[in-house]
Amino acid sequence: MTSRAADAGQGRVDPRPVIARLREGNGLDQDGARVIAQGLADGSVSDAQAAAFAMAVLLRGLSAEGRTALTAAMRDSGDVLHWDLPGPVVDKHSTGGIGDTVSLVLAPVLAACGAYVPMISGRGLGHTGGTLDKLEAIPGFNCDLSEAAFRRQVREIGCAIVSATADLAPADRRLYAIRDEAACVPSVDLITASILSKKLAAGLDALVMDVKSGSGAFLGSAEEVQDLARSLVATANAAGCRTSAMISDMDQPLARAAGNGLEVREAIAALRGAPSALRDLSLSLAAEVLALVGEEQPLTKVTAALESGHAAEVFARMVAAQGGPADVLDNPDQHLPTAPVIRPIPVPEGYVAQIDAAALGQAVIALGGGRVRAGDAIDHRVGLSGLRRLGEPTEGQIGLVHARTEADADGAIAAVLAAYRITEQPVDPGPLIRDHIKAPAKQGADKIEAGE
Ligand code: URA
Ligand code: CA
Repeated sequence: MTSRAADAGQGRVDPRPVIARLREGNGLDQDGARVIAQGLADGSVSDAQAAAFAMAVLLRGLSAEGRTALTAAMRDSGDVLHWDLPGPVVDKHSTGGIGDTVSLVLAPVLAACGAYVPMISGRGLGHTGGTLDKLEAIPGFNCDLSEAAFRRQVREIGCAIVSATADLAPADRRLYAIRDEAACVPSVDLITASILSKKLAAGLDALVMDVKSGSGAFLGSAEEVQDLARSLVATANAAGCRTSAMISDMDQPLARAAGNGLEVREAIAALRGAPSALRDLSLSLAAEVLALVGEEQPLTKVTAALESGHAAEVFARMVAAQGGPADVLDNPDQHLPTAPVIRPIPVPEGYVAQIDAAALGQAVIALGGGRVRAGDAIDHRVGLSGLRRLGEPTEGQIGLVHARTEADADGAIAAVLAAYRITEQPVDPGPLIRDHIKAPAKQGADKIEAGE
């Protein structure tokens, strides 16, 4: 059921020659990648060696082959799931944004189309929200399923959204913390291996990447975003998972809300058929991943799954299976928590010309809806809703702030006002999907399968 690449097992393997080779600009091969990844997982690579490795990669860079070798070795540093299901096993990964609740819509849409979605998600990182934090706004929702329960739910309902166990890509868990301490986070090579090692360990047939671009995105320039998207697509395909990427607009929140419980309400509205950018992007990404597994009319299929109410039904079953109330879809206001203070954010008449989306994310954290330090408690009630989108008239208001206290609301209103630029003339908001990086043709990809 699971496999562990084990050949770094006997005796002590010395990682220093691998690091030295990288330092001299001579790259990383599959054996070297395994020494590092296994050593990160079993403790035989020290923190000092891991930091030196990360810095050598950051400064010297990896070839396409080196990137793939590192990704595959990190994937194989722990459990790798294998599935035997009557449909394709697929997933989406986003590089993180504000008001991005796509997972809650996309997973049930895909399950309603006969695909299987074993979604292993994360918590908020930096100014961006996390899928698990959002789902936990639903009373009783449990993200910590056992592997057996996770497998059963994916088989029976078609989707499950869960937290990672310690056995999933343990090399990345350790390397990510060390990169953070050693100023080695911004490396396309390391980011690629980090993101993909975790996703590919879920045993997917196909993956669509949503790479965010704009003021709320994790990467700054449009060029860096392109580089990362191309690297993710090339590396995932070379490692044996059909993958493509969309580059999508993060110059504004995707949904009209930011904050955990408020975003769940937006996802429920989309599942119930309300038109929105959230709905459009969710359907585009779902269609894209179905196209990767050979579906010929993917957009028609995912749209029908949503409009028929079938996807909403799957969502309700998933919530109930994971401990939440069975009727959250029909009675969201009865189950989702409400903040004690709700106030409008007044602005002059005009049009929304520019939004600092990261600043909105920071405002939600300041309201208590995100973490300053890992392990901080989250208030699922707070955040922003009814947010005006780029190009829209303000009609005198940007949206609503949901806060614990009047003082918190004052602070958030000031922060939102500073994050919005309003003009007298309407502006063009630009496209929701800015680019599409296709998967390479099926033949010819250099596959590196799970370690023997
Ligand atoms: N997200 C990850 O999982 N890893 C990175 O390196 C950056 C973002
Ligand atoms: Ca296991």
